[in-house]
Parts: sequence; C-alpha cells; structure tokens
Amino acid sequence: MNENHRLCSSPEWAERLQTTILPYLVRDVDLGERMLEVGPGPGAATEWLRSRVSQLVTVEAEPEAAARLYETYSSTNVTTVLGDATAMAFDDGSFDSAGCFTMLHHVPSTAAQNRLLAEVLRVLRPGGALIGSDSLPSDRLHHFHEDDTYNPIEPGTLITRLQTIGFDRITVSVDDRLKFIAHKPSRTEEISSAETR
Ligand SMILES: C[S@@+](CC[C@H](N)C(=O)[O-])C[C@H]1O[C@@H](n2cnc3c(N)ncnc32)[C@H](O)[C@@H]1O
Repeated sequence: MNENHRLCSSPEWAERLQTTILPYLVRDVDLGERMLEVGPGPGAATEWLRSRVSQLVTVEAEPEAAARLYETYSSTNVTTVLGDATAMAFDDGSFDSAGCFTMLHHVPSTAAQNRLLAEVLRVLRPGGALIGSDSLPSDRLHHFHEDDTYNPIEPGTLITRLQTIGFDRITVSVDDRLKFIAHKPSRTEEISSAETR
C-alpha cells in the first residue's frame, strides 16, 4: 500500500471506526464466540472486536502488517495468520461471524473479491454473519491510491453479488461510506427454500 495509508494506522481512523462504523454494524448482529477478520492492516478494528468475542482470528496478506499484529497480540485472544483471504485453510463452518473493513477495494479484481466473499461464506457457520464497510468510489480516493490497488465496490451491485455468492438476509447502507451485513443461510432457511423450489 502507498504512503497515504498511514491514515489507517492513525488514532483518528481508529476512533471513527470504533465509535461510529463498528457500533452501527454490530447493533443487531450476534458476533458469537469465534470471529474471523480479513485484512486487519494495523488493527484498528481488531482492537475493538477482540473484546467482544472469545476468539478473534485475523488473516492479513501483507507480511509486515501481519508481523506487527502478531507482536501486538501474542498471548491474547487474537490469532494472527499471514495469508490470502481468497483461499483460506480454515474448516467449513468454523466461525460464528466475520468482518472485512476498508479492505475489499484493495483486492485487485471483482473475481478475486467474489472469491474472498465466497471463502468467508464457506468458513461461516450456518446463520453466521459477515459485517463489512468500505470507502465509496470517488475521484479523490482514486487519486489517493496512486500506484496502489484501487478496485472500489459499486454499492448498487453489492446486494446482487452477495446474493449470487450465497448470502441472505443482506443489508447494504450508504452514507459517507458503504456498510453491509449479510448472513450465511441457516439450515432451516436452506430446507424451506429447497421445499418451495
Ligand atoms: C486499508 S487496509 C484496512 C485495514 C483495516 N481493516 C482498517 O479498516 O483500518 C487493507 C488491508 O487489507 C489487506 N488485504 C488486502 N487483500 C487481502 C487479502 N486477499 N487477504 C488478506 N488481507 C488482504 C491489506 O494487506 C491491508 O492490510
């Protein structure tokens, strides 16, 4: 990532994420005991989330960022994994909830973003929730990402993308950011939708 991304490690960003964005996303969501966070970067969400679940597993693709998280959170309830969230080694259904914050626009193609979301769906338990947020597409943000990956999510397409991947009970909201909540269908929902086919 380029130098502009120092913002992600600033106290101002952590404050905004922790006082506005995350409280909105978890308002009606049960995070359960075991949560996955993909693309934690410097850990602004990690710090907030870890006090709300028994175990938080983070998957970070950048070796330096993963090493810093590992150092900060060793001997806590956070497990840091260096890896690519488009192909994760976790078992199916092994997390109660998952989160991805300000990271999808760093995933270089729509196909790779969809693979990442499909991987999150796979590792969630039935009924488990994905919560997420991202910046809205803008010229300013495009400029901010000069020489860096910039593949913003088009808000109008997100519900259909999440539905096609297999999520249900999806909420997408747009104000100065994009926020979304989506669930893995629970077994009862799978059975009743098969019965109505
Ligand atoms: C802008 S930072 C966001 C950090 C943090 N989530 C936040 O909101 O402050 C995006 C992070 O996503 C990570 N990332 C991008 N693609 C990834 C992938 N495929 N798997 C795991 N992490 C990824 C990047 O390395 C980077 O640390």
